Amino acid sequence: MSNNHPTPPLEPVNTSAQEKTLHMTQLATPDMANFSGRVHGGSLLKLLDQVAYACAARYCKSYCVTVSLDHVFFKEPIYVGELMTVLAHVNYVGSSSLEVGVKVVAENLKTQVKRHTNSCYFTMVCMGDDGKPSAAPPLILETEAERRLFKAAQMRRELRKEVMARNQALHEQAGESLPGTHIEGPPA
Ligand SMILES: CC(C)(COP(=O)(O)OP(=O)(O)OC[C@H]1O[C@@H](n2cnc3c(N)ncnc32)[C@H](O)[C@@H]1OP(=O)(O)O)[C@@H](O)C(=O)NCCC(=O)NCCS
Repeated sequence: MSNNHPTPPLEPVNTSAQEKTLHMTQLATPDMANFSGRVHGGSLLKLLDQVAYACAARYCKSYCVTVSLDHVFFKEPIYVGELMTVLAHVNYVGSSSLEVGVKVVAENLKTQVKRHTNSCYFTMVCMGDDGKPSAAPPLILETEAERRLFKAAQMRRELRKEVMARNQALHEQAGESLPGTHIEGPPA
């Protein structure tokens, strides 16, 4: 018997030569909740780190590690039972590092109302087989939107460096590490 049903494509057709974007959807389940029935910030960050990792590793075709995370914004709560869609995009590529912008949209399955609940920026580093940072594929900017994202990420990279330098100066001025910020080396 012939099957007359056309086979739908498994995923949206990607017209870019590079895999820069990744979308992941997950139900907010009770095991992710805090005491008030909302998704716990830590559970959400774990999910976002996984999506940023998958986006970076697929783009680089290589293992990647998270080196920093900034501008974490919990704009609105996510409730158990909502559908969370995490949208990740490679905004910027340096030598070995890349910025992955992450946005979360929560959908109420009954009303189908969608809300932008969270966003943040991960800096991931592309790692070689020797366990050291290795060159990430240069980013090909194909649209006006990508060029805008790249410029904004470039400015955030400068800001990160400035904040780190100022923070270091503050520590030095204080003459000691702030509590909980000093990382001890192994005993000699
Ligand atoms: C990521 C890691 C390999 C970088 O090592 P490093 O000695 O700082 O390497 P480099 O100085 O060559 O820096 C590598 C890149 O990271 C960037 N980077 C380093 N520290 C950073 C920070 N605090 N914030 C943002 N970017 C940073 C550098 O700018 C550089 O980017 P570029 O190559 O595009 O210019 C090292 O810090 C590490 O292993 N960290 C632990 C990672 C980890 O375990 N993550 C959690 C689990 S995945």
